[in-house]
Amino acid sequence: MSEDDATPDDAGTAAGDSASDAANEDEGVVRRDRFAGGPAREFMSSLAADRRIFDADLAVDRAHVLMLAEQEIVAEDTAGEILAALEDIEAAVDEQGYDAVLSDGEDVHEAIETAVIERVGPEGGRMHTARSRNDEVATCIRYRLREDVLDVLEAVAETREALLEAAEAHSETLLPGYTHLQPAQPITVGFWLASYEAALARDVSRLLDAFTRINESPLGAAAFAGTTFDVDRRQTAALLGFDGVVENAMDAVSTRDFLLETAGALSALSTTLSGMAEDLVVYSNRGFVDLDDDYASTSSIMPQKKNPDSLELVRAVAGDAAGAHQALATTLSGLPRSYNRDLQRAGPHVWSVIDDVASAVDVAGGAVATADWNAEACAAAAGEGFSTATGVADLLAQSGVPFRTAHEVVAVAAEDVAGLEGDDPSGGAADPDAAIEVLDDAAFAVLGESITDAVDESALRSALDPVESVASRDSAGGPAPDAVEEAIASAKADLEDDLVATVATRKSLEGAAERLDSEVSEYV
Ligand code: ARG
Repeated sequence: MSEDDATPDDAGTAAGDSASDAANEDEGVVRRDRFAGGPAREFMSSLAADRRIFDADLAVDRAHVLMLAEQEIVAEDTAGEILAALEDIEAAVDEQGYDAVLSDGEDVHEAIETAVIERVGPEGGRMHTARSRNDEVATCIRYRLREDVLDVLEAVAETREALLEAAEAHSETLLPGYTHLQPAQPITVGFWLASYEAALARDVSRLLDAFTRINESPLGAAAFAGTTFDVDRRQTAALLGFDGVVENAMDAVSTRDFLLETAGALSALSTTLSGMAEDLVVYSNRGFVDLDDDYASTSSIMPQKKNPDSLELVRAVAGDAAGAHQALATTLSGLPRSYNRDLQRAGPHVWSVIDDVASAVDVAGGAVATADWNAEACAAAAGEGFSTATGVADLLAQSGVPFRTAHEVVAVAAEDVAGLEGDDPSGGAADPDAAIEVLDDAAFAVLGESITDAVDESALRSALDPVESVASRDSAGGPAPDAVEEAIASAKADLEDDLVATVATRKSLEGAAERLDSEVSEYV
């Protein structure tokens, strides 16, 4: 039975008289003879990983102590002493470093509490009244995760901006559009870029949605079964900038679903980035785009090489994120209510990927923003592989031929039209006159009439031209420059909305932190 399993009444007296004797012993005032040593000590400790939530724990301690004082659970002068001790601990960690000040302990919560009691004496033990490390740690993780998610959201906003700017600049730059990595239909660089911005916008909405559930406070749930003390959970939640509380105390300490959905959202985001990185690797390999040297590397032996290493690393981060999500799901599934120590290993899965994903967002955005598109090579390749074939079939269908029959006419001609492309050393689409001849044979074979009897010849020439082909696909969300420009305008408005939401959230957290500081300053 751990100390956190103690009844709520006991929770407030961890540093009572009997504990003050223990204070003189090496085992520390909080753990007594548990966690005193032995082979499992290091294995059980989360102190090193908890560095990430050190600031969060200080904030949670402060909010909790302020609430205890206001609810008259702890005397004001005692609260003042505890709050002063917390300031002192923060300053000491600033000066000497986390490891030097909190060198020993089962976790950061215990280490800070021990350090408070060292400074205040047994009265410092009142800090842990009406709470448990179970609600404490869950609150700390949420408090810290909010910042990290906001960092990612800000990074994604910049990348979306870079994508939209480049998309605007390249709304007319032709690019081969692939399916199965084979030339399929001509598109533009702008259309390709805007497609990834649209995906990132959804990734952002998943993160913003997850944020609403991260931003609820478990504090005051105590070990899992509430407390006899008259705590004000809404006050601590407000002091910490949470939107509300996780109502059910048992749920509040047990759940890490907010981690799971954040990891899921990060996994989806990194999968988007991974696809974008892979496309750029392919495009640079085919000479369509030249990556800035900042985003390329070279070979240690082959001096001529310029490798897209940064993008390959972005691609790989998706594996880490998917791994973290899977690891979390496995750790969490089948856990009994309420607190189990397995939960200690949940947070680090997210900490380990969230920074990597934020960096991957920056790197992918930077690579796109600085990439140099080779418009000529792109245009030449855009018409290759008879990529205008679908447009020709569409034209036949618009002229009254059933689409399936039109498809057959073009399919019969396809191989021969593509075969004509080799004639032109600069690559690109087949010569239109030659293509029309081949299509004519196919039309006779399938329809029993000349292709120019079936369709208007100038319309056919347009359909065979990659530039016209793109311009003609102006359906909503299509690649025609006009359609892309329209999409960019609405994407910009959506981006602005997301930015406003992110900035407002950041501001509200900052505001809460300032209010917490100012309330603390009234006591110390
Ligand atoms: N270090 C622990 C964690 O991260 C804190 C909670 C400990 N609670 C307990 N009942 N042992 O989960």
